[in-house]
Amino acid sequence: MTASKRIVLSSDHAAIDLRRAVADHISAQGWDVVDIGPQTPESTHYPKHGRAAAERVASGDCRLGIILCGTGQGIMMAANKVVGIRCGVCSDTFSARMIRMHNNANMLSLGARVVGEGLALDIVDAFLSAEFEGGRHATRVDMIETPEG
Ligand code: RB5
Repeated sequence: MTASKRIVLSSDHAAIDLRRAVADHISAQGWDVVDIGPQTPESTHYPKHGRAAAERVASGDCRLGIILCGTGQGIMMAANKVVGIRCGVCSDTFSARMIRMHNNANMLSLGARVVGEGLALDIVDAFLSAEFEGGRHATRVDMIETPEG
């Protein structure tokens, strides 16, 4: 399978159930899901899981990534420390579409203690079905990557 439908999923302990629901949902749509865990519910540290998923995307192994923690915030902050990662936390479908269309986000973060499963899956669908519009947005995204430019 090409990298184009390959997506990495990761979470901390707060979001294991929602991560599995997302994995089932998008696998059924034909996505090649690389679920890097964790698989057991012990308390763990979200930065290492966010970074691990981000490295899969930054390396080109996976085209996109979805990461989850309690709020979606901490794991997003960790992922965005990896060069080339543009990750946004979304609790609504409009933002999920727009971070693809305008920001060329390559990762989505969800808060399992913020959104219920039904909304989370709609957010995932909005993110995965949107495409980057390029043009003036490409100029701005380039400025994120090279802030001195
Ligand atoms: C874990 O209790 C919680 O802090 C974490 O899941 C996340 O919400 C951090 O941003």
